[in-house]
Amino acid sequence: MIIGEEIYSFTELPSTNRYAIENLSRLPSGTIVWALKQTAGYGRFNRPWHSDDGGLWFSIVFKPRLLKDTGYYTKLISVGIAELLCELDCDAMIKWPNDVYVKGKKIAGILTESVIEGERLLGVVTGVGLNVKNTIPPELSKIAISLKEVTSKDYDVSFILKRLLNKLENLRRKYLQVRMKKYFTRKWKKYLMHREGDKIRLSLPNGEKITGTIEKINSEYLLLKTDNKTIKIMAGEIL
Ligand code: BTN
Repeated sequence: MIIGEEIYSFTELPSTNRYAIENLSRLPSGTIVWALKQTAGYGRFNRPWHSDDGGLWFSIVFKPRLLKDTGYYTKLISVGIAELLCELDCDAMIKWPNDVYVKGKKIAGILTESVIEGERLLGVVTGVGLNVKNTIPPELSKIAISLKEVTSKDYDVSFILKRLLNKLENLRRKYLQVRMKKYFTRKWKKYLMHREGDKIRLSLPNGEKITGTIEKINSEYLLLKTDNKTIKIMAGEIL
């Protein structure tokens, strides 16, 4: 498979992730589903995702035979986005686990969903939302930013997509192999905003909020030392 060998493009879809999941059986691994606009885009924790014209909204279909760790796909893509943004003169960082930030605001988000039948993994769909030149709604302007706001440049969305797919395919070839995992994790950690030893506040998927010091970050989890214990955190959001 080659990421981006086949691109299905739409002027509008409810959600590229949803389209990819619903049509999974006929989409080969590596296929891209791209929409100029989404009317029902969604993000992690099922939050609505604003997807007006001018942003890059797409999903990648993976049908893994060997590497079934879905977190790995998300990481690969967050590193690809961060690298590309750095090449475009943005100081991009990854906020654990996979959000991409510039100037303290979110510029891109990734949502990976697995499609499972019984015990079988039918596929992994990874959706990417990158604010290119879409207008950020005023209520989000304190926490979200676009490439245009950072660089004052009017990048063409298809140009960004092409560059990103190219980068992702190169990263995939190099790192999407079991034995390359530790090298890739090192690369991902280099882009992380928060490091081991930092004090953070986290919101867990159940809504609970905790504060502690990062004891360790590896490809699967983050170890947080709180006042009285050390907790293994697989998912959540750093506040
Ligand atoms: C997040 O940060 O919560 C993840 C946001 C993911 C948004 C993208 S846009 C393309 C794809 N289709 C969707 O409905 N969501 C993802």
